[in-house]
Amino acid sequence: MQYKYAKEHVDYSDFSSGRVFYSLPGHPAFPVRLASEIFQRCVALRKKIYKNSSPCVLYDPCCGEAYHLSVLAFLHGEYIREVMASDVDEKIVTVAKRNLGLLSLAGLDNRINEISKMLEQYGKDSHKDALRSASILKDKLLGLHKEQPHATKVFQANATNGKEISENIKDKSVDVVFTDVPYGQHSHWQDSEFNDSSNPLSSMLDALLGVLSSSSVVAIAFDKKQKVSHESYQRLEQFQIGKRRVVILKPI
Ligand SMILES: C[S@@+](CC[C@H](N)C(=O)[O-])C[C@H]1O[C@@H](n2cnc3c(N)ncnc32)[C@H](O)[C@@H]1O
Repeated sequence: MQYKYAKEHVDYSDFSSGRVFYSLPGHPAFPVRLASEIFQRCVALRKKIYKNSSPCVLYDPCCGEAYHLSVLAFLHGEYIREVMASDVDEKIVTVAKRNLGLLSLAGLDNRINEISKMLEQYGKDSHKDALRSASILKDKLLGLHKEQPHATKVFQANATNGKEISENIKDKSVDVVFTDVPYGQHSHWQDSEFNDSSNPLSSMLDALLGVLSSSSVVAIAFDKKQKVSHESYQRLEQFQIGKRRVVILKPI
C-alpha cells in the first residue's frame, strides 16, 4: 500500500496511547499514520463522489478506547463536526468517554492536572513528556476551537444491532464510519448469537444502514480471516498493510 496523504514519516509521539490519551492494558493502539491515511482517503472520496466537503459526523461502532477517533479529531479536526463512538464492552466505553473528553478544554485541563499530580508524586521523565505533549495538544485544541468545539457522544451498543445503534444516533446522520473491528488476536466479536457460520461484519453493515447519511463512506480495518461483502454497499477502495486489510465502501 502506498500512502497517498500521510506520506511523511512524522513523529506522532505526542499522540502515544497511555501518554496523554488514556489506555487500558492489553488493548493495542491503532497506528496513527494509518488512521490518518484512511481518514483522509474517506474525506477525499466524499468530495469526489458526492461533491461534499463539509465537516463530517464520524462514527466508530467498535470504538474500543476511542483512541484512533480522538487522535483523528486532533489531527484533522477541521474536517470533523461531531465524533460518535460505541462499543459492546461497558468497561471500555468508560475509557472511550475519557479519551473523547480530551476534545474539550475542561477535559484536557483535567488530564493536565492528573499528570501534574503524578509528576509531583513520582517525578518520572515519562510524566514530564506527557505534560509537554498535553500542552502541544492544548494548543491544537485552542486552534480548532476557534471554529467550534467538536460535539461528542459515547454509548454502549452491539455493533450488529441496528436497533441499539438507532436508539442513540439520528437516522441518516453519519457521514464517515471508520472502524477497526475485532481481529481475534486481542479482541473478539462479542455476541451470544455468534457462531462459526455467522458473519458479524455483514451484520454490522446491515445495522449501520439506517444511520448513514446520503453522502457517507464506511472504512473498515479487519483481518484476512473475515470477509467484507454486502449487497447494499459498493467497494470504493481496498488495500492490505501488514496483517490488516482495509476496505472503504459506500452504501448503494
Ligand atoms: C480492535 S478493538 C478497537 C480499538 C480502537 N480502534 C481504538 O483505537 O481504541 C475492537 C473493539 O470491538 C469491540 N467489540 C467486540 N464485539 C463487539 C460488538 N458485537 N459490538 C461492538 N463492539 C464490539 C471490542 O470490545 C473492542 O473494543
